[in-house]
Amino acid sequence: MSSDLLAYYQQRAAEYERIYTKPERQSDLATLRSLLRDQLRNHRVLEVSCGTGYWTAAFAPAALSVTACDLSPEVLAIARAKDWPSANVEFSQADSYDLPAFDRKFSAAFAGFWWSHVPRQRLPAFLSGLHAKLQPGATVIFIDNRFVPGSSTPISHTSPDGDAYQLRRLDDGSTHEILKNFPSESDLRHTLSTITPSPEITLTDYFWLLRYTIP
Ligand SMILES: C[S@@+](CC[C@H](N)C(=O)[O-])C[C@H]1O[C@@H](n2cnc3c(N)ncnc32)[C@H](O)[C@@H]1O
Repeated sequence: MSSDLLAYYQQRAAEYERIYTKPERQSDLATLRSLLRDQLRNHRVLEVSCGTGYWTAAFAPAALSVTACDLSPEVLAIARAKDWPSANVEFSQADSYDLPAFDRKFSAAFAGFWWSHVPRQRLPAFLSGLHAKLQPGATVIFIDNRFVPGSSTPISHTSPDGDAYQLRRLDDGSTHEILKNFPSESDLRHTLSTITPSPEITLTDYFWLLRYTIP
């Protein structure tokens, strides 16, 4: 059994977007697509851990530009092969914990379903690395899962650091123990307390959307 997050997503690349076909989540997903399109309209967006570009496709038509990064060549190949109607999207291989120098600062950052995979102790360093790539006053948006019994994969164990893990199985039969946290609203506010006193948190049945501006 592997617990390597990147290897897991590389192996899962071709089957990844199946997660977005769960019937009970369709209404929430449509709500998130619409919120993202509105909130990232006319922004120059840095997207980290973009995966196959599922969310990129939702907001790119409204954004001025999107620089979408992921560390996995496998998911980037799927993202790049999609039909991008405008030339405002570029994909690039980058580590979300060690972002490269870009030729400009961005007016917004976005990450979908990435916060939940960041060990709790790494969140402050990850966030400050991300914020360093943004203009003052930039908008930052994260979306991620709420834990929904019966729909979410059960938690297999919780580490002494408070990180939760799930056992996941891929089509090839391999099993992976994957870090997946389900922060409460107050966890999110606490993590951001030194950055902003008033993050905006939107809850749907299955997901949360966090939005704030950096000073
Ligand atoms: C849950 S997927 C989310 C993909 C996409 N954002 C979405 O919501 O559909 C997590 C992504 O993180 C990527 N990833 C894992 N470790 C990474 C790292 N250190 N830096 C950048 N991306 C990473 C994986 O390749 C995978 O595409």
